[in-house]
Amino acid sequence: MTIITQARSLQENLKKNHKNSSVGFVPTMGALHAGHKSLIELSKKENEITVVSIFINPTQFLAGEDFDKYPQKFESDKKICELCKVDYLFYPQIDTIYTKDEVLIKAPSYKGFILEGENRPGHFDGMLQIVLKLFNIVHPTNAYFGKKDAQQLILIKQMVKNLFLDINIVECDIIREANGLALSSRNSYLSSIEYTQALAISRSLERAAKAIANGQRDALAIQALIKDILTEAEISNIEYIQVVNRDFEPLTTIELKNTILLIAVKIGTTRLIDNFWL
Ligand code: PAF
Repeated sequence: MTIITQARSLQENLKKNHKNSSVGFVPTMGALHAGHKSLIELSKKENEITVVSIFINPTQFLAGEDFDKYPQKFESDKKICELCKVDYLFYPQIDTIYTKDEVLIKAPSYKGFILEGENRPGHFDGMLQIVLKLFNIVHPTNAYFGKKDAQQLILIKQMVKNLFLDINIVECDIIREANGLALSSRNSYLSSIEYTQALAISRSLERAAKAIANGQRDALAIQALIKDILTEAEISNIEYIQVVNRDFEPLTTIELKNTILLIAVKIGTTRLIDNFWL
């Protein structure tokens, strides 16, 4: 595995040595867990070359969010990448990526400013900005993103379409612990009491999925069912429970194969999201 810190150097390496190879790309902010590993493994399977980036992107964090305390685990991340036989690990510093006066990317005004975008205004502008930069550095054939960040995934797909980028975006399933909790680098912030409370999130989605499988199609009833389970677990800070289609339009009636159930809550000071795709 080659570790590269300079964007130009990665570009030159890929151009010189892998011009005709398929390149799989897994962008991350590090603190790699089994969820990231599954994306890397899929990329390894589907491409000749796999590039992983680790960059905690400052522009997608709002003032007061966890940018300063976001977990940094470069040594163990490096080991995971080595074990997964990643070809290139891109690990840039902030000043390699950003200059003082940047051309900016703006998230679309509807899809980028509801739900996560409403709760974290500006987050998606910064996320799209870094993903576009990384795409332009790596020029991947396939890029791998988890469904856990559902809105992020949908916005990246839209950016690829709107900007005519020649990249295939691969939607990857959410990886969960055996108890159902969706893997997230932010789970490490939870105390043991908070961790137990957090289990109610996936439990509520599971019950909602079961209700839908049993014929429930009323989105309001599904939202109420989820809310009851979260409230039972004493999760009081519910940011949203939403039922949308793949264009992120709210639904009143569940559409099979075109519905995403979305949850965002805060447990203590930790913000967690989870979702279920039908
Ligand atoms: O999902 C993430 O880890 C980040 O939002 C991403 C896509 C790596 C951009 O910084």
